[in-house]
Amino acid sequence: MSLTVNGRRHRVSADTRTSLLDLLREDLDLTGTKKGCDQGACGACTVLVDGRRVNSCLTLAVRLDGAEVTTIEGLADGDDLTPLQEAFIAHDAFQCGFCTPGQIVSGTACIREGHTGSPAEIREWMSGNICRCGCYPKIVRAVEQAAGKR
Ligand code: FES
Ligand code: FES
Repeated sequence: MSLTVNGRRHRVSADTRTSLLDLLREDLDLTGTKKGCDQGACGACTVLVDGRRVNSCLTLAVRLDGAEVTTIEGLADGDDLTPLQEAFIAHDAFQCGFCTPGQIVSGTACIREGHTGSPAEIREWMSGNICRCGCYPKIVRAVEQAAGKR
């Protein structure tokens, strides 16, 4: 099958059981997307498929023939970070950093979707992304800032 990842077309063959997460990490060497639970509970593996956020651990790679996938590696333009990536740094919105790629990909979609009307709304629409370090207040502030609300 062929799919586009971060603007680059790839022709790959994958076992029918291969998850998008494993395809990205094991076959395409895109290890920014993290494997936390591998069962759809933590959001560490969040990527965008055709602009919508998905848990890549629950997405079968073979379903994605022709799809456009964006991972954390595809957000910045070289050293030019996105406003949300800059806001994460400005607000120190991480501790161990393991959840951070998923948080930033999810936050990027949250802003595009317009679910940033209040801290409560951001928390609700980011609730699929767990942070075991408990950085939620700073993550919400970073999303608010990048959405132009701060
Ligand atoms: Fe996919 Fe946890 S690794 S949701
Ligand atoms: Fe450690 Fe979120 S920064 S899990």
